[in-house]
Amino acid sequence: MTEHVHVLGIAGSLRQKSYNKAALRAAAEMLPEGMTLDIYDIAPIPLFNADVEAQGDPEPVRDFKARLAAANALLIATPEYNYSMPGVLKNALDWASRPPATTALGEKPLAIIGASGGPWGTARAQLALRQSAVFMNMHPMNKPPLQIPHAEAKFNADLKLTDEITRQHLHAVLVALAAWARRLNRI
Ligand code: FNR
Repeated sequence: MTEHVHVLGIAGSLRQKSYNKAALRAAAEMLPEGMTLDIYDIAPIPLFNADVEAQGDPEPVRDFKARLAAANALLIATPEYNYSMPGVLKNALDWASRPPATTALGEKPLAIIGASGGPWGTARAQLALRQSAVFMNMHPMNKPPLQIPHAEAKFNADLKLTDEITRQHLHAVLVALAAWARRLNRI
């Protein structure tokens, strides 16, 4: 191991009591050796508008792009909204995906996780994100997957991830992401 793997964690939910934000916080507390994780708040990113983009990226977009560029890998925790990823997440990625020739998302190792109240734990949102990742030329990790269904039973009232099996699966994702990032970044 030569260099740390710097991961940027992005939750596709803006709400304070988000289970997906909570999943990222849980990840930050169980990092494998040699990995750092910063959790990024996408709330300040405005709605994409090509006219605004033509005038120059707004400051929150510039900040987001810089943080993406500095990361060796991304960990996205997405809710599922109507069988897809939430608009706020898609919107942030849309900004970051441009211009396509120089986007910081290109070649970026990515792990996708997600928590929802339903029985499928964001499986369909994760597939939607994976589909977009293809066009953005990101490198989503295939395995292990992590869906967190019935999230209200996996986190306690303080939004701590208390379900032991889920904690083990989350840790396995992080270990695999470290290896995936090292392989793709050659570090
Ligand atoms: C949802 N939710 C939801 N859940 C699911 O499993 N499949 C779905 O298609 C949807 N669709 C959906 C649409 C909209 C507009 C909302 C607001 C919610 C429920 C959702 O997964 C749940 O609220 C999660 O707790 C949201 O994630 P956070 O905010 O806790 O991270």
